[in-house]
Amino acid sequence: MTIEIFLVGVGTGNPRHITLQAVKQLKSADILIIPRKDNNKSDLANLRHQICKELLGDECPPLFEFDLPPRNNEKTYLESVDEWHDAIAEIWTDCIENAQKALKRRLNSVGLLIWGDPSLYDSSLRITKRLKPSTHVTIIPGITSFQALTAAHKITVNEIGQPFIITTGRQIANFGFPEGINTAIIMLDGNCTFKTLEQKKYHIWWGAYLGMEHEILIEGRLAEVSDMIIKARKNAREIHGWIMDTYMLRKKYS
Ligand SMILES: C[S@@+](CC[C@H](N)C(=O)[O-])C[C@H]1O[C@@H](n2cnc3c(N)ncnc32)[C@H](O)[C@@H]1O
Repeated sequence: MTIEIFLVGVGTGNPRHITLQAVKQLKSADILIIPRKDNNKSDLANLRHQICKELLGDECPPLFEFDLPPRNNEKTYLESVDEWHDAIAEIWTDCIENAQKALKRRLNSVGLLIWGDPSLYDSSLRITKRLKPSTHVTIIPGITSFQALTAAHKITVNEIGQPFIITTGRQIANFGFPEGINTAIIMLDGNCTFKTLEQKKYHIWWGAYLGMEHEILIEGRLAEVSDMIIKARKNAREIHGWIMDTYMLRKKYS
């Protein structure tokens, strides 16, 4: 018997990011499984609950929560991520089995609310493929954080006819700014890696909590705004207990 898994992109923090297609798909699931509140990121867990309440209302399928396991950082990055995905797959399987027992019926479909878009720096699809028994997946696209960034700053991501790259803070830290390209979107950067670059050459468009009520935007020549971003990031993190930020860098000055 195959179980249907719905990976539904829900945007980056604003319930109004969600498409009609996403709402319809979530409502059609037998259950929704969502990560349990983590103290540091309670706003994010609350947001999933808020989305379910506001947008699914009476048609919200039963919600079941699961705990995300910690990642073992003693191994190489890829090994630790691989083990982590196995552990999450087991937790999802248990969560689905417990839901079947609690509801006293066989479940045919399970929905997950995926932050941003499921295709971008999100492992849910990889984890789904590790589930047993076999699964059939439906993916509903969502607004990604970089779209929320470019819309908030009113910019296009590409220069006319030019390519761009999406990468992580870790890649920039290890290999520098990508060769042969002028524009990079950087995600998953907890270390303000832009400070390691030759700052006078770049322009930055930075955004934190994009789409959310305490969204912060800073833009300017990197050499001039770098310290301001580092301070704003630190302050906001202290106030809210967590932060998610994304930025676009363009090599613009020689
Ligand atoms: C695990 S990735 C998930 C990305 C997500 N799938 C997407 O489409 O945006 C998490 C990273 O996305 C970015 N991000 C997600 N939501 C954000 C938000 N509301 N504001 C700023 N950056 C965000 C941050 O760079 C964060 O480190």
